[in-house]
Amino acid sequence: MSQSTHVFHRQLAKRPPVAVSGQGIWLRDAEGRSYIDASGGAAVSCLGHGHPDVIAAMHRQIDQLAYAHTSFFTTEVAEQLADLLVGSAPAGMSHVYFVSGGSEAVEAALKMARQYFVEIGQPQRRHFIARRQSYHGNTLGALAVGGNEWRREQFRPLLIDVTHVSPCYEYRGRLPDETPEAYGQRLVAELARTIEELGPDNVMAFVAETVGGATAGVLTPVPGYFKGIRDLCDRHGILLILDEVMCGMGRTGTLHACEQEGVVPDLLTVAKGLGGGYQPIGAVLAQGRIVEAMRQGSGLFQHGHTYLGHAVACAAALAVQQVIQRDHLLTQVRDRGAYLASRLRDELGDHPHVGDIRGRGLFWGLELVQDRATRQWFEPSLKLHARLKSAAMEEGLMIYPMGGTVDGRCGDHVLLAPPFISSEGEIDQIVARLRRSLDRVVSDIGLTS
Ligand SMILES: Cc1ncc(COP(=O)(O)O)c(C=O)c1O
Repeated sequence: MSQSTHVFHRQLAKRPPVAVSGQGIWLRDAEGRSYIDASGGAAVSCLGHGHPDVIAAMHRQIDQLAYAHTSFFTTEVAEQLADLLVGSAPAGMSHVYFVSGGSEAVEAALKMARQYFVEIGQPQRRHFIARRQSYHGNTLGALAVGGNEWRREQFRPLLIDVTHVSPCYEYRGRLPDETPEAYGQRLVAELARTIEELGPDNVMAFVAETVGGATAGVLTPVPGYFKGIRDLCDRHGILLILDEVMCGMGRTGTLHACEQEGVVPDLLTVAKGLGGGYQPIGAVLAQGRIVEAMRQGSGLFQHGHTYLGHAVACAAALAVQQVIQRDHLLTQVRDRGAYLASRLRDELGDHPHVGDIRGRGLFWGLELVQDRATRQWFEPSLKLHARLKSAAMEEGLMIYPMGGTVDGRCGDHVLLAPPFISSEGEIDQIVARLRRSLDRVVSDIGLTS
């Protein structure tokens, strides 16, 4: 194959390998090299690649009907998927709005929040509060609520004004003499002050990833944090939008990550694991009273895209979710997740450049540091995360490393999100290859491991 390309790739300096096939947790490129998909791409491929039941469901749908625009029709498959999602949703969720991915889900949720307040006669509410170091997508609304400085910087003049508070980032945020619970309440108090400053009646929603993902490397909430946030939002009539595009749909061991926090959001965004990468699909799950306000008010949600509720995407997602239920894969996520955690701790727990190992289910992050004792990060110009990604690819391992963990500029982490079907033997291989890749990178930059 020629080296020139007309594809506007993510990186313009070099062309990525050409993926040609996938089976289970393995991908193969055109040169015949195999890679273990230890990150599910970006926490997407929950069933791995080439799952026969999902492919068969997609074939059936294509043969019957590939596409019907949602301003004319609904489809059986979209109705069935919505039934399944509402049937397994947190209490009070009555409807599902289907979109084509995570950013679209977040955009839709932001606009639902705004329209809800207009419909119920509170049009003065116009502020979103979100968290630093969060990621909610790359479209302008989602980028505005996101808190990653590097991603926002050059687009700042285009972004709506959003107020950001501290993330729940125990490794760097909790004081040495503070309990996790006290740390969580300190963060809730910070949000309370921010709400007071903006005027409680002017705030629409607090937006947060239940378990932080891409930009800070799997930030798990401390006990009581989200309960405190939920109470605060209720006190002021503010909506809680939980973004589970990455951490949801079983990734952390429960279908929705918020189940483990004992809170129910007003709007819940999901994507990635919903369709497992077989088709682009995302969704917003909405509380009944939000939908009801629109039904009794203007009678519509003033939004829409051409591919809402695409029939083949819904068929793929329905099949993915049915396989997860049928094969009891959430139990497997919890079991294999515990195994992955123990293997990571055994192999990398004492590594001089692994500062923190954190996660839930099959969603794990390792924060990399130059010095474990001081938690000093690597010099950002070293681009440790990029070196690690290349070294891992050479080892035949797909992982999801990122820089800017600490503040958008400094710090490095690596995220692991293997498919739910990974075996213990495959997890052993993931951890061994990760260790070799990390050792190679630190030795290349003249450090020891
Ligand atoms: C929490 C979260 N929200 C939104 C998005 C954006 O999703 P997409 O890339 O499908 O637009 C992501 C993607 O990583 C995400 O992790």
